[in-house]
Amino acid sequence: MVRALVTGATGFIGFNLVKRLREEKWEVLCLVRPTSSREKMEKLIETGARLYPGDLSERKSLENLPTNIDVVYHLAALLDHSVREYEPFYRINVLGTQNLVERYLNSGIRSFIFVSSIAAIGLVETGSGLLKEEVKCNPVTFYGKSKEEAEKLLLSYSREFNFPVTILRPPTVYGPGSRLSEMIEFVYRKVVNRRPIFYADRGSALTSLCWVGNLVDALVLAAKRRCTGELFHVDDGRPYTHREIVWTICSALHRKPIEIFVPSTVLYPLAFFNEAVGKLGVNISGLSREKVRMLSTSLALDSRKAQEHLGYKPVSKLGEYVREFVQTYFRISS
Ligand SMILES: NC(=O)c1ccc[n+]([C@@H]2O[C@H](COP(=O)([O-])OP(=O)(O)OC[C@H]3O[C@@H](n4cnc5c(N)ncnc54)[C@H](OP(=O)(O)O)[C@@H]3O)[C@@H](O)[C@H]2O)c1
Repeated sequence: MVRALVTGATGFIGFNLVKRLREEKWEVLCLVRPTSSREKMEKLIETGARLYPGDLSERKSLENLPTNIDVVYHLAALLDHSVREYEPFYRINVLGTQNLVERYLNSGIRSFIFVSSIAAIGLVETGSGLLKEEVKCNPVTFYGKSKEEAEKLLLSYSREFNFPVTILRPPTVYGPGSRLSEMIEFVYRKVVNRRPIFYADRGSALTSLCWVGNLVDALVLAAKRRCTGELFHVDDGRPYTHREIVWTICSALHRKPIEIFVPSTVLYPLAFFNEAVGKLGVNISGLSREKVRMLSTSLALDSRKAQEHLGYKPVSKLGEYVREFVQTYFRISS
């Protein structure tokens, strides 16, 4: 029986991973913070997983973790974009990762699998192509910067100590309990109140998404195939345009959106003006040049390496997930 340790098991992706590993009859141990939600801990226990208290940023607390583990899945992270300084991201996402690696460095584990993020790449112009793993990163958020630093740290452990690191880099992950619900609610409020949806340019900028089941598949495959020192992009196997995502949501809501297309050449000066008056304490629209760049720039992944090397077979469940969500929360059936 494979024995796995999962960090971040009380989180959205971690819980889905634990359920799958238990279905595969793996023995699962979870690192959980004592402050974590009781309800989530109980749900983990119901799967048959065993919990170990600890906090990644407190090195000593990791000494409770057993070392006779085959696979470590490291998913725990600080993702909260409302945190306005780098230190907490560095402490949890970078130093926390290092603390965990140090715990397992000489323990003989087979794989240490890290879930990074597309945020590590940041803002890079995709053009018409998709981003491969070798892309030069340009993270623009503290979260993204910490994920990139953690990746570099892990790859250096892999090079210097032959530590069996594999990194998966997903975009926004969707499924029950995911943050995509905020996007669905945003579009819902707009269409119900007959308010327009603004797109930068034609809304044709590309973005990647990953169904949580795809990511869990890739995580299981990564442990089975063992690709030390490798980084893999994982997504739904194809990108979506911003407009397509809005239309997928509207179609589940049986509503047509009122759409307004604004060229980014118009949005940039508006954003510049807004930032300038913002310095005087007046914020008119919340528009910033960074926002315009995010809305008008494609950021889409190429997951063919994972498909070729891991046998990863992604599927798109976006329409299905959105329909289920609107059925559950807005009582709108198909
Ligand atoms: N969700 C996405 O769209 C997405 C996209 C790309 C990459 N990722 C990556 O996927 C991973 C999981 O994301 P998620 O959405 O499942 O996150 P999540 O729901 O916010 O869960 C985060 C998890 O990390 C744990 N954690 C945070 N700080 C910790 C610490 N100091 N010590 C131990 N545990 C700590 C949390 O425990 P508590 O219960 O105690 O808070 C929770 O279990 C992250 O590494 C994230 O960067 C996520």
